[in-house]
Amino acid sequence: MKGVVLAGGTGSRLFPLTKVTNKHLLPVYNKPMIYYPIETLLNAGIKDILIVSGKEHAGGFLKLLGSGKEFNAKFTYEMQEEAGGIAQALSLAEDFADGEKVVVVLGDNVIEDSIKDSVEEFHKTDSAFIFLKEVPDAERFGVVELNGSKVVSIEEKPKKPKSDFAVTGIYMYPFEVFEIIKTLKPSDRGELEITDVNNYFVKKGKMKANFLKGFWTDAGTFESLFRATELVRKRQ
Ligand code: DAU
Repeated sequence: MKGVVLAGGTGSRLFPLTKVTNKHLLPVYNKPMIYYPIETLLNAGIKDILIVSGKEHAGGFLKLLGSGKEFNAKFTYEMQEEAGGIAQALSLAEDFADGEKVVVVLGDNVIEDSIKDSVEEFHKTDSAFIFLKEVPDAERFGVVELNGSKVVSIEEKPKKPKSDFAVTGIYMYPFEVFEIIKTLKPSDRGELEITDVNNYFVKKGKMKANFLKGFWTDAGTFESLFRATELVRKRQ
């Protein structure tokens, strides 16, 4: 099983913090933000990890993370030339995946739970997996429409969310995900959307949704970055 951390994008919502530093290198309590998604993968036993970063700060990632030796892991790097969306960043992992399944974590997502059991479950199926969390501000995220615990559809940043359950930035995909990304068209915001990828698997009846029990937050806005620091500090 291979892991991918997506740390491209512009970090424009954190300007001027991101004027000279990449968002994923900013501190969340006592570690750089990108340590958290990496640890999520390492704790699940995934040690072969691709890091996709924007080209402006690629040197910072290399300097911070190196070969992965310090983490008892192997890190590979890929550069996203322009912020073309999460699915576009993931498409850069095709050669790295080399026919295998991938576990993907967004570079600004911090979770408390271990995903180890889900990774084992994922290993045995040909479904994709997403992870849901109840939130008070669902309109900021991909949001599911549920029938019981079954996902019927997903909407990206809906004005009127059909539930309070956000799709978190942890995804597990079979290798066919790379063929699906090739068929996507850019959204109104000019990005290849991960929600379109997820809806493909939902429509095929090949999407499993697990509910996170512990805390989850992104860290891409001033409020959520502050919240991430508070949650991590409290846990320690
Ligand atoms: O955090 C979970 C949410 O992440 C999901 O609920 C949404 O469905 C999903 O679209 C995404 O929403 P955001 O608008 O918050 O994503 P954002 O543009 O902030 O990007 C999140 C991370 O994805 C970012 O830290 C790095 C990576 N990324 C993003 C873009 C746009 C890339 O690697 N390349 C990109 O081009």
